[in-house]
Amino acid sequence: MKDSLNELHPTAPLSAYEKAVEEGVDPRCIPQYLDGPVPVGSDIVKPVYSDQHNENWKHLFNRQMDLLPGRAGEAYMHGVHLMGMNDGGIPALADLSNALNSATGWQVGRIPGLLHEKDFFDLISKRIFPSTDYIREENELDYTPAPDCFHDMFGHMPMLAQPSVADFYQMFGQSALHATGMQQTHLERLHWFTIEFGLIRQAEGLRVFGAGIMSSKEEALHALSDEVEVIPFSLETVIQQEYEVWNLQPTLFALDSFDQLVDEFRFWSSKQGLAA
Ligand SMILES: [Fe+2]
Repeated sequence: MKDSLNELHPTAPLSAYEKAVEEGVDPRCIPQYLDGPVPVGSDIVKPVYSDQHNENWKHLFNRQMDLLPGRAGEAYMHGVHLMGMNDGGIPALADLSNALNSATGWQVGRIPGLLHEKDFFDLISKRIFPSTDYIREENELDYTPAPDCFHDMFGHMPMLAQPSVADFYQMFGQSALHATGMQQTHLERLHWFTIEFGLIRQAEGLRVFGAGIMSSKEEALHALSDEVEVIPFSLETVIQQEYEVWNLQPTLFALDSFDQLVDEFRFWSSKQGLAA
């Protein structure tokens, strides 16, 4: 597409994607704006995946499912089961959307890659989870800097079947749409330490629920190890905590319950004038 476009329009300025490719940056890591509504739920057509891509899913799914029992929280494991995820190939987004819709009224929208924040929050605020439908390549199984459907589907979606998390995430999107200045930084930190890297205390002990841990072998092994400082969750503490994107997480926060997250967020967003 790029080559043919440039042949047709040799003087057309390069898109952000094309520039990224020229500069050696992974174009999948450049946020993009949506140019129209995304397909949602049963409107999403499943791509034809190669055998290798289905193998990649199988490898990742089995690797994580070997690690997660005893580490992942009850709600997450229930979500995986409820959504019918298994090692039999990449699921259809339409089927995952249907399962989520029955559980908590969330749906899935197919997106082309990393989105600009406003587009992302707009979908979240409408109870639509933006998901890619392409998977990392064979040489990226241990790590990919780019979004892919293993992280989106396996990491994120099971927790959206948990009613309190489902409500929290929609409220988060609604608030994030209107946040300015430091409020945006605070919301980014909250997102990081809950949706991506959250821990929860259950009767059996400390467990993981964040998508960044669920979809990563290294983080799954690291999150509950002695190398991590675990601090009891308090929203006011979390929003002051800086985080590192490129290293294993040295500090994590543990909720007492998902209702705690909803209650503290409702209080904070109302105080900030961000409540829907
Ligand atoms: Fe994520």
